[in-house]
Amino acid sequence: MRLLVCGGAGFIGSNFVRVRVRDFGDELVVLDKLTYAGRRENLQDVAHEFVHGSIEDAQVVAAAMDGADAVVNFAAETHVDRSIAEPDAFVTTHALGTYVLLEAARAQQVRYVQVSTDEVYGSIAQGSFTESSPLDPSSPYSATKAGADLLVGSYHHTFGLQTLICRGSNNYGPYQYPEKLIPLMILNALHGDRLPVYGDGMNVRNWLFVEDFARGIGHVLEHGAPGEVYNVGGPDESTNIEVVRAIIDAVGADEDLIEFVTDRPGHDRRYSLGSEKVRALGWEAQMRFHDGLRSTVDWYRDNAWWWEPIRSGDYRAYYERQYGRALG
Ligand code: NAD
Ligand code: TYD
Repeated sequence: MRLLVCGGAGFIGSNFVRVRVRDFGDELVVLDKLTYAGRRENLQDVAHEFVHGSIEDAQVVAAAMDGADAVVNFAAETHVDRSIAEPDAFVTTHALGTYVLLEAARAQQVRYVQVSTDEVYGSIAQGSFTESSPLDPSSPYSATKAGADLLVGSYHHTFGLQTLICRGSNNYGPYQYPEKLIPLMILNALHGDRLPVYGDGMNVRNWLFVEDFARGIGHVLEHGAPGEVYNVGGPDESTNIEVVRAIIDAVGADEDLIEFVTDRPGHDRRYSLGSEKVRALGWEAQMRFHDGLRSTVDWYRDNAWWWEPIRSGDYRAYYERQYGRALG
């Protein structure tokens, strides 16, 4: 297959490209704006054609989509804390960008996969969300992602476009930018920096290894029914404090590095996805959290070339704004 992958230079997109080239022999075109989170280094070991541009640019999108069998859209602003501090880019990329991609897919009759998140359902105290649970997003990030999902659904309903939506739970693994919980805690623990836990640390996330999500998205692309939504959840749930303690253990760092800090405004307490529908298509998560976390710690420990330029660059200013203290 020839695939146009938007946002393919980011964390999940680059893992998806790697899986598709390595395991399926696909031909890949990556369209990416290269924001702070998008890096050519993420794809340096994978054969692909690269187009530097944004999904809001109709001309660039139309040219990049030419000849594609399908488009998979990962392009997004993805950090909840940044969406609270500066929501603008979230609205532009998720609303306008998704619209421009859908119009191009409609004009060229190309199958369209939207990569979405469990956060569109909001928080759930008990049980798990199914695909028919109501959307109840909490943050500017999840609200704009939910808006994009609704727009995608309308292009199937109104124009008959072959659309699919994949809602993943919290991903972790190699190449994740260290603003997110797991890579941030790993790098801080490796450097002896404080480990800032929001609130009481008892928020629960449903952890999914990134290659499992990448395979799930490919599976939905190939086997999903047009117009449908598929939840792709991880096999394990964990509180944040358990995650941080497991990282301390794997790194061999000191428990005293843990620092409970002011909670995130509007912080969702628990996410949990039921994935029966995608399982019925034949997908199954392969990586349990305990093993995936250990191998992720190893990857960061062994790949300083990847994170050193990040930790010594603009990220330091972001970190100081967000946490009110400098990195060591
Ligand atoms: P990321 O922040 O690592 O990467 C996003 C990529 O999109 C970057 O390469 C960036 O340069 C690119 N991008 C941003 N705006 C763009 C634009 N306007 N035009 C073109 N490219 C643009 O994000 P990620 O964690 O890899 O997430 C990818 C997708 O998966 C997102 O849609 C996100 O909502 C979804 N998702 C993420 C998670 C998670 O835990 N990270 C879980 C479920 C779903
Ligand atoms: P994050 O990785 O930002 O993903 P999301 O908010 O999309 O689930 O955060 C995961 C959890 O970790 C979330 O409950 C917030 C918490 N968290 C901290 O406690 N400290 C931190 O420094 C960060 C970044 C997150």
